[in-house]
Amino acid sequence: MTLSVAVSGASGYAGGEILRLLAAHPDVHIRTVTAHSNAGDALIQHQPHLRSLAGLTLQPTTPEVLAGHDVVFLALPHGQSGQYTDALADTPLVIDAGADHRLTSSAAWDAFYGGAFHEPWTYGVPELIVGAGGQKQRERLVGASRIAAPGCNASTVALSLVPGVASGVIDARDIVNVLAVGPSGAGKSLKTNLLASEILGTANPYAVGGTHRHIPEIQQALSVVGAADARISFTPVLVPMARGILATSTAPIVDGVTDAEIRSAWESAYDGETFVQLLPEGQFPRTADVLGANTALIGLAIDRAANRVVVVTAVDNLVKGTAGAAIQSMNIALGLPEATGLTVNGVAP
Ligand SMILES: NC(=O)c1ccc[n+]([C@@H]2O[C@H](COP(=O)([O-])OP(=O)(O)OC[C@H]3O[C@@H](n4cnc5c(N)ncnc54)[C@H](OP(=O)(O)O)[C@@H]3O)[C@@H](O)[C@H]2O)c1
Repeated sequence: MTLSVAVSGASGYAGGEILRLLAAHPDVHIRTVTAHSNAGDALIQHQPHLRSLAGLTLQPTTPEVLAGHDVVFLALPHGQSGQYTDALADTPLVIDAGADHRLTSSAAWDAFYGGAFHEPWTYGVPELIVGAGGQKQRERLVGASRIAAPGCNASTVALSLVPGVASGVIDARDIVNVLAVGPSGAGKSLKTNLLASEILGTANPYAVGGTHRHIPEIQQALSVVGAADARISFTPVLVPMARGILATSTAPIVDGVTDAEIRSAWESAYDGETFVQLLPEGQFPRTADVLGANTALIGLAIDRAANRVVVVTAVDNLVKGTAGAAIQSMNIALGLPEATGLTVNGVAP
């Protein structure tokens, strides 16, 4: 079986990463790539690292151009996907890398995004626990025809904390997240605050004080495992690395819980997972260890003096945070081996 695939937003960072991974996927034929202001240009002009796709030309992003494929990836600014998804009713599988189909609450959408609310799709984080007894999101992705790939910061934090919340060893009413993030998370379009002169040699906090758009997505993942009242203090800090997220998440330990029970919550959550790995006790990840890989590496500490669990998680925002999650979810939805086209190994140094 060879799948005919279209990728929209192909001139951008997320679209480019989807294409890089799909180019190594044995079951995929990339037939169509689309863009907006850069439509008409050769893809290679905007993605010079994608040598094997040099023959492709960026077409305009329209429902007509995107129609007639087995799989369509949308990697557009949030608020833009909905207009196309409505028109792609006949496409067997549509995967949106944007936020338009992630949230189940229209009130949360209105509060953090605004504009038209679109129906929620199956969330594309297979390893996430979603039920008592350790049921995983993977099961919901089997046979899915509409998939919402995650927000990169949101899925990183959810993977960090859901095991502790689902098993009842941490209290979700006092969660603190501080994330070091690279500027590729903000996309490729020109922004003054992302100029090299603004970010090299400095760490810049942004969206401080509960305003970041990924907060409701994290709350949603936590409420699925019972924490309807999760309170999250979330602070991202832009640091001078092109890719990567290093998320440090802490939460209070529930009274009476032992160290062994805490560690076991994360061990059992990710035992046997290829792409989400808990490091041995005392070890913590670096973003450098996951660059280019579809891997989330998690380090866990138990700070008894502060009575808090500390979880440090590293991902590549463009791979496990977006494109890798999208393709892993596609594989599951279509019954392909889950790891097809994806690598667990990073690029170092
Ligand atoms: N970057 C990440 O790490 C990351 C992680 C998770 C999710 N995402 C999500 O992925 C989506 C794309 O993000 P990105 O970082 O790739 O952004 P980006 O680098 O700015 O790319 C945006 C893409 O969308 C196209 N585009 C812009 N306006 C459009 C419109 N009105 N209609 C159709 N196409 C339009 C652009 O085409 P032209 O260049 O031709 O104008 C470009 O190809 C966003 O929703 C983002 O939230 C990104």
